[in-house]
Amino acid sequence: MDLKISKVLVDSGRGDNRISLLVEKEQAEVKRTYLLKQFGKANHYVNELSALMRLSQESSEDIVKAICLWRDPSDRQRPGIVLEYLQGWESSMDYAKRIEVTNDDIRAIGSRLWDALSRMHNSGLLHADLKPDNVMVDPRTGALKIIDFGFSVPFHRVQHGGRGNPRYSGPEIAGLVQGPINEAADLWSYALTVAGWFICKDGKNPCSPIRIDHNGDYKFVDPSRLATLPEDVRQILHALTTQDPLKRKAIGKSIQPFLTF
Ligand SMILES: Nc1ncnc2c1ncn2[C@@H]1O[C@H](COP(=O)(O)OP(=O)(O)OP(=O)(O)O)[C@@H](O)[C@H]1O
Ligand SMILES: [Mg+2]
Repeated sequence: MDLKISKVLVDSGRGDNRISLLVEKEQAEVKRTYLLKQFGKANHYVNELSALMRLSQESSEDIVKAICLWRDPSDRQRPGIVLEYLQGWESSMDYAKRIEVTNDDIRAIGSRLWDALSRMHNSGLLHADLKPDNVMVDPRTGALKIIDFGFSVPFHRVQHGGRGNPRYSGPEIAGLVQGPINEAADLWSYALTVAGWFICKDGKNPCSPIRIDHNGDYKFVDPSRLATLPEDVRQILHALTTQDPLKRKAIGKSIQPFLTF
């Protein structure tokens, strides 16, 4: 493939990731566009590559597809992965905030995200950085894909130590509560992501419903905003933010959010 970088979308410098658009040309015509993700940290590259290779065997539509590796001898510092370009897609939070998107549309993506996450867990992988920005939605169809596997690891390799975004990641990941790190950590993030989609429809920030303080207690940012949540969403939030990861995992096995969508 004759691939050329056409535009750098995000670049915060060495040590950070760089996101660019790539075009494939054929006789000077642009044939296809891809997304290039270059990694500032080697371990994130290895995590993302291993996860995408493992998940590609599932051929699931709700995980972003890796196309090939990026080899540029002049840019050895930041290895890269070429991904399908989700043109016209947007962050799940931007989608949820759209005026025309109803609570039932949000329930539908909540159901799709649950299925995608369950498949990932059945493959033995934790995402470990699930949040609205790492879930993309096609506003034309409501299709959903999980992206950003830089923190993703097989369950047996998970370690404590502040992975992901503290507004969304399970408290055991940062060592705030005792217990194993397993799929229960993603269930916590799932509940906050889904509740955030609903909460943000009021147009205010922040959208993440909770903040974890330094002794491991979690506080609702503004309890009055939670009062506006539909009852089923409040129940999911309550169930999947159970502090003990073992209990949370067991609860996760016994529920199926938004089954009818
Ligand atoms: N395949 C894709 N198609 C279209 N846009 C994408 C794609 N992958 C990533 N993006 C956009 O680029 C952003 C950054 O990508 P990604 O989350 O994978 O990188 P990151 O450096 O780990 O980001 P962050 O640290 O902000 O989570 C995404 O939030 C999304 O807006
Ligand atoms: Mg991201």
